[in-house]
Amino acid sequence: MNFELSDEHKAVKEAARDFAQNILKPGVIERDNLQKFPVEEVKQLAELGFMGMMVDPKYGGSGMDTLSYVLAMEEISKVDASTSVCMSVNNSLVCWGLETFGSEEQKQKYLVPLASGQKIGAFCLSEPEAGSDATSQRTTAIDKGDHYLLNGTKNWITNGSTASIYLVIAQTNRELGHKGINAFIVEKEMDGFIVGAKEDKLGIRGSDTHTLLFNDVKLPKANRIGEDGFGFKFAMKVLSGGRIGIAAQALGIAGGAFELARDYSKERKAFGKEIYKHQAIAFKLADMATEIEAAKMLVYRSAIDKDNGNNYDQSSAMAKLYASKVAMEQTVEAVQIHGGYGFVKEYHVERLMRDAKITQIYEGTSEVQKIVISRGVLK
Ligand code: CAA
Repeated sequence: MNFELSDEHKAVKEAARDFAQNILKPGVIERDNLQKFPVEEVKQLAELGFMGMMVDPKYGGSGMDTLSYVLAMEEISKVDASTSVCMSVNNSLVCWGLETFGSEEQKQKYLVPLASGQKIGAFCLSEPEAGSDATSQRTTAIDKGDHYLLNGTKNWITNGSTASIYLVIAQTNRELGHKGINAFIVEKEMDGFIVGAKEDKLGIRGSDTHTLLFNDVKLPKANRIGEDGFGFKFAMKVLSGGRIGIAAQALGIAGGAFELARDYSKERKAFGKEIYKHQAIAFKLADMATEIEAAKMLVYRSAIDKDNGNNYDQSSAMAKLYASKVAMEQTVEAVQIHGGYGFVKEYHVERLMRDAKITQIYEGTSEVQKIVISRGVLK
């Protein structure tokens, strides 16, 4: 086992850190307040090659490994989880799904603009009545011979209005259960596709989360991904990789809160000395650092599992379960260390605390991760 990052990995981490601290940080409080999507910032992310990090350069990507992606996600999430969720969905759900399971025609038409960041993608599985229970899809895609007719509603869709290419999971044959589900590529311009209401959220407020409506959207047969009935497994496989990205996001949120709390503890004085010199604060920081390091091991391990071609369903679920718990708990601690200042927006930690919560919910709640883990350890 080698715990050292390679020079290439260190360079990716450094580039992401520079981008986060210099480009994202100045406007992050305003974007959060105004619920403003980071349009220009995402364009710059694309110029860095961070919107299709793991995609083969022949399809417009950067050809990097999963660990590089995790390192970039971690540094960007230390500052701005609204930007990193856009990046995560585009990289690990949309681009990876298309590159791994799409046809050559689909890759040329859709993956190339997505991987280069010219276009943004969204992944549409959740519905008003199908969140954790993903087999209960109500959205239908009925086979009409030369095309499918798509009808239904999707909820809580990240990149809902900024995306132009959507991977939509729909029921094609209810009687077949999960084997009657397919995944389709939907373009924003298609007739009958409507971007619905935007959510007003607790956290990741710069990210645009929308309801999407499909009313008799005519889908070419060529827009189905994989064999008939592959849609549920497609979603599960894509989400296993997505969970590595969200685990890295959680790790970054926790790490960002730790850095802010540590630095603050060296500036702030109380009872005649800097507060880090009080054991009450030093011990909190020691616990935070230890928890974050443990989460890091799980997240990096899962990325390395994927890079080595090992099964990563279990390790990604463990990484997401643990890192999101650490993010939630340690951002609360960071607010506590800041005292009253932690409760105001200027000091950033209250936003990180609000952002942390979603990492325990999206791409599978903590309870869903426990279903995956328990099935693995009990089989
Ligand atoms: N890889 C391949 N196949 C898989 C798989 C995987 N990781 N996981 C399950 N499958 C297969 C199973 O083998 C089974 O196939 P067979 O019958 O042929 O054996 C089939 O899929 C059904 O599997 P299960 O019986 O395990 O399915 P289940 O109904 O019990 O559900 C679940 C399991 C883990 C709870 C799953 O429904 C799940 O992950 N739910 C959460 C969905 C989710 O993460 N939603 C988030 C929305 S996306 C999002 O948040 C994006 C965003 O915008 C940020």
